[in-house]
Amino acid sequence: MSEVVSEAAVLVWVPKASIIAREAGARLREFLAAGVETEYKGDVDLVTVADRTSEKLIRERLAAAFPAHGIYGEEGTRDRLDSEFRWYIDPLDGTTNFAHGIPHFCVSMGLEQRPAGLAPDRDGTLVAAVIYDPNRDELFTAERGRGAFLNGKPMHVAPTPVLAESLVATGFPSRKRHESPNVHFYQEFTLRSHGVRRFGSAALDLAYVACGRIEAFWEFNLNPWDTAAGLLLVEEAGGRATDFSGNKYRLDSREVLVSNGLIHGELTNLFEQMFAGRDLAPIPTPHEFAAQRAARAAAAK
Ligand code: IPD
Ligand code: CA
Ligand code: CA
Repeated sequence: MSEVVSEAAVLVWVPKASIIAREAGARLREFLAAGVETEYKGDVDLVTVADRTSEKLIRERLAAAFPAHGIYGEEGTRDRLDSEFRWYIDPLDGTTNFAHGIPHFCVSMGLEQRPAGLAPDRDGTLVAAVIYDPNRDELFTAERGRGAFLNGKPMHVAPTPVLAESLVATGFPSRKRHESPNVHFYQEFTLRSHGVRRFGSAALDLAYVACGRIEAFWEFNLNPWDTAAGLLLVEEAGGRATDFSGNKYRLDSREVLVSNGLIHGELTNLFEQMFAGRDLAPIPTPHEFAAQRAARAAAAK
């Protein structure tokens, strides 16, 4: 990562994208204050008029600012996908928080450069990232090779050398939660670290690794609109992004694991052990717990 003295002077895409993310974020705050009705995309996957309005705004502003760029948005935008540049847009990351009135969500915009002739299933290079948290007025930005910034100040991953001294985060999918094994990983990481946070916005989780508030984040089954911007933030802030085995992260990967880099080997080792069923701390079933509880109550009489 190169040392950067002044942010704005050299950046190509971030200045305009930041204005767009701030405008979309301001709209989200207005919707939050007004209260909006929640609809369902699936049995538990929420969507609101705020998600759709934010995506429409970002789509129109990006088309005006970068007319040749493609846009791939969570709420359905699929514009100019054969372009050299493609924005991955999550117009409201943290919809469940938003729908419950919890002010922890963001706008996420990640830009990929795709050389001509690149096969559709191959990744290009992530070149720009903007994540905006309108509730705290925090703008996380990066362009490849130029460092990462929080509100214009350089940001770096945390220097923590071991998982035992780390605070980490994860998330759970809205859909098909019963098919996710993540609760087991949640348990193991809880026992081996300062704790696991479940904030409810994957993009902000990634931004928090990048600025050193937490040391690592993992999740199963995220989408490129959740991760594109945050992955570049983490890399430009000096961290590492892979799948659970330590292989290079791919945008369509079903596994994302990011860290400050220093604890990455420990994390991939833990995933390997867990997938192999080794070293797992047993969780008492509710039935076992009830029996222990009853035994304690009987002993106390
Ligand atoms: C969700 C959030 C959440 C993560 C889910 C995502 P959405 O995105 O990032 O933290 O755990 O997997 O789907 O639906 O709020 O944009
Ligand atoms: Ca999302
Ligand atoms: Ca979303």
